[in-house]
Amino acid sequence: MKPPLVHAVDVIATPDEARHLAGELAARLSVNPDVQSMDWDEATASWRCALVDGGRGRLTLAAPADPAAAAVNTHRLVATFEQGSPDAAEAFFAAARHLPFTDTEVAAAVSELPLTSRLADRWPDKPLAGTGVLLTIHHMRDFLVLVDSLLALGVDPAHMTVIDKEYPYAHTHRVDAHLVQRHGIAVWRYRDLREGIEDHIGRVAAAGKRSVVMDDGGYVMPTVLRELPEHAGHFTGLVEQTTSGIRKVEGLDLPLPLFSVAESDMKGMIESYGIADAAVRNTLRLLPDEKLEGQAALVLGFGRIGHEVARVLETRRMRVAVFDSDITRLVAAHEEGFLTGRSLEQLVRTHRPRLVFGCVGSRSFGAREARLLPDRSFLVSTTSRNFEFDLAELRAGSTQVTDRGVLGTGYQLAGDSPELVVLGHGMPINFHYAESLSNRYVDLVLAGLAVGAVTLAGGDERLRPGHNVATTNLILAEAGIVDDYYRLYGPAGGGRG
Ligand SMILES: NC(=O)c1ccc[n+]([C@@H]2O[C@H](COP(=O)([O-])OP(=O)(O)OC[C@H]3O[C@@H](n4cnc5c(N)ncnc54)[C@H](O)[C@@H]3O)[C@@H](O)[C@H]2O)c1
Repeated sequence: MKPPLVHAVDVIATPDEARHLAGELAARLSVNPDVQSMDWDEATASWRCALVDGGRGRLTLAAPADPAAAAVNTHRLVATFEQGSPDAAEAFFAAARHLPFTDTEVAAAVSELPLTSRLADRWPDKPLAGTGVLLTIHHMRDFLVLVDSLLALGVDPAHMTVIDKEYPYAHTHRVDAHLVQRHGIAVWRYRDLREGIEDHIGRVAAAGKRSVVMDDGGYVMPTVLRELPEHAGHFTGLVEQTTSGIRKVEGLDLPLPLFSVAESDMKGMIESYGIADAAVRNTLRLLPDEKLEGQAALVLGFGRIGHEVARVLETRRMRVAVFDSDITRLVAAHEEGFLTGRSLEQLVRTHRPRLVFGCVGSRSFGAREARLLPDRSFLVSTTSRNFEFDLAELRAGSTQVTDRGVLGTGYQLAGDSPELVVLGHGMPINFHYAESLSNRYVDLVLAGLAVGAVTLAGGDERLRPGHNVATTNLILAEAGIVDDYYRLYGPAGGGRG
């Protein structure tokens, strides 16, 4: 007999909000085509539900048994499933996971992002009312505050489209549910990227509008220019928030202005440390029983992120080596006191790192180097998607590949070679069942993205087709958001918005 499957979600809410949320979920399930019947059971204070192709589900609004170990005002929604097929279980849990945030939770996030949430005070004349927006920003709670802000700046929710990158963030399903159920925004999955773009263009163009792209990883414009070139003219501008996105558009002849938050001083000088810190913290959270102090680590790529990762690992008392294919970066790493070498293979052979942190942005490490690692080593990436490590090569060179659950994938390399674990299956570790930076930290960059959208929608003539790094820096400085950030978190600020 199969054990019951259980999914529990903690929501922060008033008792009324929690009851309302659970009631809405039961109502949604009752009209779900996979559900045959749905009844309230007084004796167990639960909704009981029978699935069409067998199996029984139960939904209970519970309280934590140990409130001292939970956040204040926590309610626990417990979904249980018994005796059905895996497909029926998946249909039941897919619905149960899609819980929008409560007003209490949204209010907390809004208070944590004062710069982003107050942008409409800066531009009260709704500068985005005539524009569609297509976004690929990470599905985290901070993103919902950006969306609220864009709506307050005038975007019609019917003219907004979100591409879900399908990373396993801490609250990915709830963010999705909130966008769809509370705002009626179209959400498309990354795997259906092209259809999502076409749908967006059709909807927005029918209303006589054009669109701004707010991208995080160069997903949209390369697809438009290569696969839908006849629609390139629909877009008036591109805001890009990450280096990998810049790399992807580099070879393209961009017919529109790029507002490059990715390459801005603000992003490089302020945010990189936070990302590195979040990446290292989540790595340690996944490996609570490891002792990394005193052990060897290797950082691949001494760019903005890699430089900060190397420094954070050093403060965690690891012995850190750095490899960069660019000789100037390598010299910089050497002169900062890190162990370096011209040959990656030689560096791995002599330093024998137990932790390898990939921060290059493209393939940097494969089976040949992995074979030189000590046993029980960990590979960790900060790069978008799973591009950093050659996972296909690792798989082909292994006698056994095991799914290690939340930890990632284990590879037993063939021959007299080590076993290693690729944490988070090689996806960027700061998003792996986590929310990366704290909301107060990421506020500045999200506000910067919105500044970009407003500027592009307004047709600022200083922004020319192609890259605009210097002008982006100028416009971000003019917007005053960094001044506000300094007022909040600088020497005179109390650290709270
Ligand atoms: N996880 C996140 O939250 C997050 C946030 C921002 C950026 N990123 C990603 O992190 C990656 C790095 O970003 P960055 O801003 O530090 O980029 P960067 O361009 O500043 O640094 C990349 C470094 O890698 C070096 N390099 C290039 N090819 C190499 C190779 N084969 N071997 C060794 N070194 C090589 C370059 O010389 C450079 O020093 C990008 O993919 C970016 O998109 C992730």
